[in-house]
Amino acid sequence: MAGELSPIDKAKFVAAKRAADFVEDGMRVGLGTGSTAAWLVRCLGEMVRDDGLKIRGVPTSTRTAELARDVGIEVISLDEARWLDLTIDGADEFDGDLNLIKGGGGALLQEKIVATASDQMIVIADVGKAVENLGAFPLPVEVIPFGWQTTQALVEETLISMDVLGRNATLRMNGGAPFITDEGNYILDLHLGRIGNPRQMALVMNQMPGVVENGLFIDICDKVIIGYGDGRIELRDINEGTVEHDRLDFVESDNLFTDLAE
Ligand code: A5P
Repeated sequence: MAGELSPIDKAKFVAAKRAADFVEDGMRVGLGTGSTAAWLVRCLGEMVRDDGLKIRGVPTSTRTAELARDVGIEVISLDEARWLDLTIDGADEFDGDLNLIKGGGGALLQEKIVATASDQMIVIADVGKAVENLGAFPLPVEVIPFGWQTTQALVEETLISMDVLGRNATLRMNGGAPFITDEGNYILDLHLGRIGNPRQMALVMNQMPGVVENGLFIDICDKVIIGYGDGRIELRDINEGTVEHDRLDFVESDNLFTDLAE
C-alpha cells in the first residue's frame, strides 16, 4: 500500500511517524490540522490501539476532532486540558528561525491558541515547505464577518508601509460563498510575495479592529521534522541548535494506508 503513495505523501508520512516518537504515555497532545497532521493522528491512533498508548488529544479543528475519535484517541477540549505537553502540527511555510505561516487549511486560530498553550510545538512538513523568506504562500488572516470589506481595505492600506512585495488581500471562498472558519469567521489571504519582517507583520496585523488572528507563528515552534519522499528525515531543533538526519523504512501498516485510500 505504501508503494502507492506519492512522494509528497511519503514525505508527510515519515515526518509524522518520526514526530509520533515524541509522544509519551500520559501526555496531553495538541493535534494539528491538515494532510500532514492527519498522518500524525493516524500514527497515534495506531499506537493507542496496538501499543496501549494512553494520551488525551486536543484537536485544532472539527476535522481533526472527527479523525482523532475515529482512530480511537481520547479527545478533550483545551479548557479541560488547560495546558498541553506537546503540540504537533503541519505548516504552509517555515523559515530558518522556525517561524511559520499556517492557516492554509483555515484552522490557524485554534492552531495558534493550542500551540501557544503547549510546552513544546513540533512542526511536521515535507521539504517543500522550507523557505528562506516567508511570504510566497499567501498569509491567512482571520477576520470577523462584520465589516470585513472595511477590514480588508484597512489591511491593504496598512501594507503600504510594510516590507512586502505584494499588497493584495482576497477573501477566501468555498465554492460560491465565503469560507467560514470553525469560529464562524472569514479569512483574508494576503498575497505578499515576501515578508521582510514577519515579527512586525504579525504584531501590526493583530492590532487592526476586525482582525482576530493572523497565520504567522513567531517563536512558537521548537522543532521541525522535515520529511523527504525517499524516507529521509531531518530534525531541526531551534533551542538546541541541532540538526539530525535519519531515515525511516516503510513498514506497511494496513490500517493506516487503508484509511488514507478511502
Ligand atoms: C491548517 O490550517 C494549516 O495551518 C495546516 O497546518 C497547513 O495548511 C499545512 O497543511 P498540509 O499538511 O495539508 O500541507
